[in-house]
Amino acid sequence: MLSDPFLQLPTDTSVRVVWFTDFAGSHHSVAYGEKLNQTSEAMTTKLSRVREDAKSRIARQTDQNDQDSSVDPQPKMRDIWRHEAVVSGLTPGKRIPYQVTSVGNRQGVSQQIKSDVFTLAPSPKPGTPLKILLTSDHQLMPMTAANLQKVAETIGRVDAVFFVGDLVNVPDRASEWFDDNRGGAFFPCLQGRAHYELEKNGVKTVYTGGELIQHAPLFTAIGNHEVMGKFSLNKGLNEQFNDTFPRTEAKIYYQELAQQLNPEADPQLQEAWLKANSSNTDTYEEIFTLPQSISGGKKYYAITFGDVRLVVLYVTNMWRSPSLDSQVRGRYQEREKDLNQPQNWGYGQHIFEPIAKGSPQYRWLEQELKSQAFQEAKYKIVMLHHPIHTLGNNIVPPYTDPQPRIEYASDGSIQSVRYEYPQENDYIVRDLMPLLESAGIQLVFYGHSHLWNRFASANGMNFLESSNVGNSYGAYIGEKKRPVPTDNPNLNYVVTGDPNGLEPAIPTIAPLVDEAGQPLPYIASNDITVFSILDTSNGTVSSYRFDTRSPESDVVKFDQFKLHKFSHN
Ligand SMILES: [Fe+2]
Repeated sequence: MLSDPFLQLPTDTSVRVVWFTDFAGSHHSVAYGEKLNQTSEAMTTKLSRVREDAKSRIARQTDQNDQDSSVDPQPKMRDIWRHEAVVSGLTPGKRIPYQVTSVGNRQGVSQQIKSDVFTLAPSPKPGTPLKILLTSDHQLMPMTAANLQKVAETIGRVDAVFFVGDLVNVPDRASEWFDDNRGGAFFPCLQGRAHYELEKNGVKTVYTGGELIQHAPLFTAIGNHEVMGKFSLNKGLNEQFNDTFPRTEAKIYYQELAQQLNPEADPQLQEAWLKANSSNTDTYEEIFTLPQSISGGKKYYAITFGDVRLVVLYVTNMWRSPSLDSQVRGRYQEREKDLNQPQNWGYGQHIFEPIAKGSPQYRWLEQELKSQAFQEAKYKIVMLHHPIHTLGNNIVPPYTDPQPRIEYASDGSIQSVRYEYPQENDYIVRDLMPLLESAGIQLVFYGHSHLWNRFASANGMNFLESSNVGNSYGAYIGEKKRPVPTDNPNLNYVVTGDPNGLEPAIPTIAPLVDEAGQPLPYIASNDITVFSILDTSNGTVSSYRFDTRSPESDVVKFDQFKLHKFSHN
């Protein structure tokens, strides 16, 4: 099997069990119950887009391959089958054992492969005390396996995993999910089957990750690393990942070519063309069975889990380099060689799914926040990939549609394309925040900048970025300044601190300290990894750190805060 089974989409009386194999097989099922004497047949599908290429770390491929001309750089489709069985008739509050079986065929001989025995349960009833892991930005980064191993060792079995995006690096590369040969792929890390060797100060330690999602449902949000760009069978997968194109622009090209491409005006053909020429989250959506919303499908949704109403948004944009080098297709400019070929433009840090006031997602959120399920929930939590308050880098420039500024030469050719991101049009600040504030959201959870920090607004709303899991991209505070263009006096992007005006909270229990012994309001480290746990028995969020330079050292609980009770909660 390519993965252990994991749990998805619990209801009051059922839960889905999902696993993957690299063979089609003839029969796949789940046995469950105290004596494993009940069975549920799985439905099997094949992943449609997953591939491997020269940068895949599969079999004996290493980074040496990048120079090795004998390695074919073209992506090849990879055959992976997904099995999903619904286990129903369950009793809330009762956890039971289960085991999955896949029957394959090797050289004409039928073979039965069984997983170990794990446990499952339906959705918990309100009032059930739950421990929920808050995690993000795994991306096969060096400390991810250590982090999840420490979660399992410290907390034991968690009741759910809330994962706020950036699961892998390139979503269409199969090995990043299942079997990257460095040992730290997505499923192995979350299933305690990783084998990742971390070297610190000359000492090597192997981390296995934690056996978490075999027993606990996983709820995910889309980060920028769940989105693939324009589809190609000859460009490398990293290149395709970076080659996203705004759908609005793709539509303009489609209109010009529609007669020729799609003379019958087949809507499916149109959709397939637009997807292949803009961006897609197909692999992500094929791998996970998530709650759905009418307008957004799996891309944004809400669910009640015990005392928690979890609202998951699709708020993420394309990441592009801040560099102003003329060779770089960046967040602030097009590169020189593309200037007069707009079909090759990157369109800066374009937004994949609108959240601006009036957009389908915004309107859905307005309705969700008015719903009975939301109103009645004890804990109201929103998760989205893009940060709202952070010391990290990725909050700059503002979250808005890039505004092109194009300069022309006297012969009409384009001399430069620059992008500006007006602060007053930041959709998160301008449109989303007022909605969340008026709805009494207690916790907003996000990632993306790869550090741990948290904030509280004057009215008691808490903001947590718990993304110092596998590595860090730093905290921009004091002398450390975000890279922003300095040649345009109209732009005043914020180079240090939280651009949206809050002071980071000092951890309440055991903050790290700077060289002068002053407590630090963040953790941004490639040696110390952090995880956070929501405990619904007392409405607290606790954060823990582990120093990978001392593999024998204890995990330290360094921060705890309580979710604020609003009068209408
Ligand atoms: Fe991200």
